[in-house]
Amino acid sequence: MAKQEDIFKNVVSHAKEYGFIFPSSEVYDGLSAVYDYAQNGVELKKNIREYWWKSMVQMNENIVGLDAAILMHPTTWKASGHVDAFNDPLIDNKDSKKRYRADVLVEEYAEKINQKAQKEIEKARARFGDAFNEEEFVTTNARVVEYLSKRKEILARLAKGMTDDLQDVKALIEELEIADPETGSKNWTDVKQFNLMFGTKLGASAESAMDLYLRPETAQGIFVNFLNVQKSGRMKVPFGIAQTGKAFRNEIVARQFIFRMREFEQMEMQFFVRPGEEMKWYHHWKETRLNWHLSLGLGKENYRFHDHEKLAHYANAAADIEFNFPFGFKELEGIHSRTDFDLKAHEQYSGRKLQYFDPELNENYVPYVVETSVGLDRMFLAVFATSLQEETLEDGSTRTVLKLPSVLAPTKAAILPLVKKDGLPDIARKIIEDLKWDFTVAYDEKDAVGRRYRRQDALGTPFCITVDHQTIEDETVTIRHRDTMKQDRVKISELKDIIENEVSTKNWLMKM
Ligand code: GAP
Repeated sequence: MAKQEDIFKNVVSHAKEYGFIFPSSEVYDGLSAVYDYAQNGVELKKNIREYWWKSMVQMNENIVGLDAAILMHPTTWKASGHVDAFNDPLIDNKDSKKRYRADVLVEEYAEKINQKAQKEIEKARARFGDAFNEEEFVTTNARVVEYLSKRKEILARLAKGMTDDLQDVKALIEELEIADPETGSKNWTDVKQFNLMFGTKLGASAESAMDLYLRPETAQGIFVNFLNVQKSGRMKVPFGIAQTGKAFRNEIVARQFIFRMREFEQMEMQFFVRPGEEMKWYHHWKETRLNWHLSLGLGKENYRFHDHEKLAHYANAAADIEFNFPFGFKELEGIHSRTDFDLKAHEQYSGRKLQYFDPELNENYVPYVVETSVGLDRMFLAVFATSLQEETLEDGSTRTVLKLPSVLAPTKAAILPLVKKDGLPDIARKIIEDLKWDFTVAYDEKDAVGRRYRRQDALGTPFCITVDHQTIEDETVTIRHRDTMKQDRVKISELKDIIENEVSTKNWLMKM
């Protein structure tokens, strides 16, 4: 099995074993692509949300928050384009009755060809050592050139078929002889569009009930409240509205743990600007958002921009921040310059004006919007998977450590009495009483102290504070640092400042 797959399996099992993430309703064998956040997961998720909220709302005078309802008037989704265009192309296998995303079947086929090319490249690298010139090799080795150009051609035909005619996508699947991954059958139906929104009903009786949707993005709640917030908050363009909350999509390819879920959480911000100034703000937010990610210290090499060449009809610029997940680089956040498309569409469908009077220009206009949109669950996966490390120590033993950015760690310090007697537990409890006003702290007295350290390492707790017999004499404790395992002897009265200095949001956000 590939190493990447092993790492990913490890992430999923660690998340379950240490109380971060469980499959939803597991007693009934779970629900596909739906997950519950457990006692430690909920803290980590809350800390990521707060880290985002503080950097967006608290640190910016011109950005305010919002918490719009999940259920919205159904016309919202007609205006936004989701009723007509929020679709995935699906294909059914007539023999197995299994349903697949047609574009994903083709992409996976293309990826297999790419893997063949990569294998050749790695073989050559091993053969030539330091003298290996990858750039030259991929343009001159006949086999690699053939693999890469075939892959390119397939992806280009897929992109064309997706916009022009879905029948061409089916023809491509047949021509490439792509088989049902589970059964090997090549007996396919036509490709059809499938809307990703979950429907629900509002009303007491079946006849009078109104069809609603569970929101597929939080952004529309911001757009329809744009003028309410602007007027009641006396906001001046440029200004932003930020929101975190649940979104729902009936994803067909729902794999990769919490990367692609049917119920997930978004952290979105719409920034309203003067028409014509949107590119300046687009570049500003691209850079600002990347810096926010980098401030967490997960490694610059794990991020890259993917600038969209083909733009949605409402956008005049768009980019993704991609992250190096255990299964490769994938979208973590989107930054989109959405023009005035959404506000104009809501004006048209509602018949209400959604315009801003700019006192400096002395004119009314529909503002342009730059959006930043990051998935909270994807952030969780990025942070969790990168932090989970297996270390070999000097004595040859190994330890599993979750090197979470300490500002995000679910528990900031564990207080451990060395033994369960001689009054040490009482002192430990007193320390907890003092620290718990400022930090999430835990008490642990079970097992030898070495095992307790390992347990806290696996939970990502940055500090272990041990109370021993010397504490009775001079009111000092040892404080052990998770990443270095270094221990210092410090006064109990110094603990709060030491922890604060390490975990304070200010110190982390200052790195932006
Ligand atoms: N308002 C814009 C919007 O919703 P998107 O690219 O569809 O754009 C934004 O979604 C972000 O939401 C993505 O970058 C991703 O982090 C997250 N996201 C989207 N679909 C998701 C899913 N099924 N499961 C988890 N996160 C998802």
